Amino acid sequence: VDALKKNPSFKPRKGPVFLLILDGVGFGKYEDGDAFRQARTPNFDWLWNNCPHTTLKAHGTAVGLPSDADMGNSEVGHNAIGCGRVFAQGAKLVEEAIRSGAMFEGATWKKLVKNAVDNNGTLHFIGLFSDGNVHSHIDHLKAMLEQAKKEGVKRARVHTLLDGRDVGETSALEYIDPFEDFLASLNADGVDYRIASGGGRMFITMDRYGANWDMVKRGWETHVLGEGRQFLSAHEAIETLRKETGAIDQDLPSFVIAENGKPVGTIEDGDSVIFFNFRGDRALEMTAAFEEDDFPYFERKRRPKVEYAGMMEYDGDKHVPRQYLVSPPSIDRTVGEFLAASGITQLAISETQKFGHVTYFYNGNRTGKFNEELEDYIEIPSDVVPFEWRPWMKCAEITDVILDAFAKNKYRYIRANFANGDMVGHTGVFEAVICAMEAIDIQLGRIIKAVKEAGGILIVTADHGNSDDMYEHDKSGKLKTNEQGKPKAKTSHSLNPVPCIIYDPDYQGDYDTTLREGLGISSLGATVMELLGFIPPEDYDPSVVEVKK
Ligand code: 3PG
Ligand code: CO
Repeated sequence: VDALKKNPSFKPRKGPVFLLILDGVGFGKYEDGDAFRQARTPNFDWLWNNCPHTTLKAHGTAVGLPSDADMGNSEVGHNAIGCGRVFAQGAKLVEEAIRSGAMFEGATWKKLVKNAVDNNGTLHFIGLFSDGNVHSHIDHLKAMLEQAKKEGVKRARVHTLLDGRDVGETSALEYIDPFEDFLASLNADGVDYRIASGGGRMFITMDRYGANWDMVKRGWETHVLGEGRQFLSAHEAIETLRKETGAIDQDLPSFVIAENGKPVGTIEDGDSVIFFNFRGDRALEMTAAFEEDDFPYFERKRRPKVEYAGMMEYDGDKHVPRQYLVSPPSIDRTVGEFLAASGITQLAISETQKFGHVTYFYNGNRTGKFNEELEDYIEIPSDVVPFEWRPWMKCAEITDVILDAFAKNKYRYIRANFANGDMVGHTGVFEAVICAMEAIDIQLGRIIKAVKEAGGILIVTADHGNSDDMYEHDKSGKLKTNEQGKPKAKTSHSLNPVPCIIYDPDYQGDYDTTLREGLGISSLGATVMELLGFIPPEDYDPSVVEVKK
């Protein structure tokens, strides 16, 4: 891309523009269960009451998802924030590829099916087993199984990663039971399609950003080697493991379905494997275990020779996986790329759990930098413990680095993600989320001071809601309760709008302090550019600030 044009009537500030993404912090609809509203957040409140602000849409069509019933998520959120426009996202592209039949006309699908048929092998499906539509959708899985049967695949095995994080926290059987009926109907005339293994998504397989490779090791043992505790059915496994551990779905231990002591669906030479998540962050590690010859992370013991494909291309830079069923959105001309072309020094920082969010997702699902000289990407290692035990996470350590950068005036543009609202929000532990919000707010206090001293501009926003909606409500808005009569915890994201505040202590009168209303988070792309003194590209969504030209 070309360098951005400067806006002659905007004088850039002395200090940097700092985009702070409070992951999973929105404005809730219900008083009860809104941890963000209930927490003591004097610094946030000060910003809100004293600075130009608006709210931004962060879900559904505003971030490229099929409908406004779809909650936002970090992938589509950071894509929108970092790319300044809305692209049709994985959830939508896969749905369309199935509806139009394009997926099944594609070379990858044909090759995997042929491989299984020719070798008298098995077609395996591994993925997140729910209709959350964040990483996957169970309807995609069902459509593929139906099509596989039409095309003569005799044996299929499904490796189910139980969700409880993008859907109700103990909803696994609401997916498993009807799915068993669905398989039975397919099996009625001659094929052999079964669930072969599974476990909670936060216990096996779906680690991200190298935070905990042990999860992937356990997943490999479960799905590929068939090692682990045996059960006759997924239903039995879930009921038993729930009783024994009390864990919610995302944390349930792994299980192997077996008959007469023999696993029904290990992965063998000549089989085909489809990882049916369309989102990449939590799919990349298992993909590496299948694809990479040189694999240092754990001992695979046996590595079957299979045809492996992902639902989508997960990394557009490194082209991982080698084969995939649906092409990803072609996100291009990102904010990071334009700023690099315009000579802007940049820092991107977060802790492990969200590191790829401010780099890989922000840059349109690319891992690399645009310019080694201009950009620094810093990862603060996350704790490897349940986040409700340490709700403060690493927001203080991240702030330390940022304050140091401010003091040295090292960068023109800084972006950071505080993971707390989201990662603690996903645990469903209300008290811990309150603590998470207050931990963030303490850091906001330090940041406000530093921005003022440096003469920079702070933009406080979020990628989607979560902490603002911690209890389940029914359609009429009534609080749902569990067997003990307590509010039923909600672990997933919300549909709520997110804040957008601009704190500009050296304001020069160069823009209107009434911010534009009714926009989505994709407008943050142009906003950052304008506050750095540039004129955003014409096809970018409008900035929230009306800068004098
Ligand atoms: C996860 O992967 O943790 C959840 O499915 C979505 O959370 P995120 O979109 O905030 O990462
Ligand atoms: Co989340």
